[in-house]
Amino acid sequence: MNTPIETGPAGSGQVVDRVRDGMRGIGVGSVAIDVVPLGERRGLPPVGEEWSMAVARALAEGRPIIITIDGPAGTGKTAVAQRLAKRLGLSILDTGAMYRAAALVAIEQGIGIGEPGRIVDAVSRCGLRVEFGDDPPTIHASGRDVSDRIREHDVTQLVAPVSAIVPLRDLMISMQRQIATEHPRLVTEGRDQGTEVFPYAAVKFFLTASSEVRALRRAAQIKKKTGVTPNLEELRKEIEIRDEIDRNKPRGALKPAVDSIIVDTSRMDEDAVVGELQKLAMAAVAAMLDGRKQRA
Ligand code: DC
Repeated sequence: MNTPIETGPAGSGQVVDRVRDGMRGIGVGSVAIDVVPLGERRGLPPVGEEWSMAVARALAEGRPIIITIDGPAGTGKTAVAQRLAKRLGLSILDTGAMYRAAALVAIEQGIGIGEPGRIVDAVSRCGLRVEFGDDPPTIHASGRDVSDRIREHDVTQLVAPVSAIVPLRDLMISMQRQIATEHPRLVTEGRDQGTEVFPYAAVKFFLTASSEVRALRRAAQIKKKTGVTPNLEELRKEIEIRDEIDRNKPRGALKPAVDSIIVDTSRMDEDAVVGELQKLAMAAVAAMLDGRKQRA
């Protein structure tokens, strides 16, 4: 199935006004605004009854609430998306995990990147699915939960070229849209969610961070998991190579949607990012439901 989700045009004047009112670290479209100073901590904003009422109203009106979060690896996207979804009572979809599962299928079936047709065929037959009954949702392929396995190095190395296979992207996009019809209150994160998959999402975010900061974050994760301190310079290079592949894909290239809100997380802690995204998302959904004038 390939039906786009109709949510009405993205963005809202209200969101832009709030951003212009002085939110730091946030930009709209290609506009960049200063970052939140290091160490500045603000409490997460309350969610409140108004939000539950907005969600209930959207549900009653048959209007999906789709929040897209795109951006390169190491910007904190996955953790932020999970926390945002939890706070707002929405489902969460990690589309990178779907591409990782596809790369794993290729590895396990011994199919090389030189045979894209066979990869697409194998992925379409592997029973790839996201189990939303788990928290966070798990990803299953070839009859088992592969959520941990897809984070291993061999998968990470192969996933960028695998995700550049155009017919594979078509397959994933149609699966993602199908998931959104079944989970119409969704935070979905990846590279192309706001540009290609859900062009009419209620609100779109694009997270960025310098490659140095992203390498540091990845190193901390690896150290925590394995006890080994990785080579920072190698990590930074790997990140830049993956970015380059992601930016130059014929389909699903890594770039912000014209109506996305750009958030530079280089000097923001996770709480600050979650808090800002929450405020902006709530404002955008309220504006969408009110049918207020969209951004000029
Ligand atoms: O976010 P991640 O590192 O788990 O993503 C894994 C790979 O999949 C990465 O190379 C980018 C790619 N990807 C994509 O092309 N489109 C998406 N919607 C999500 C991820």
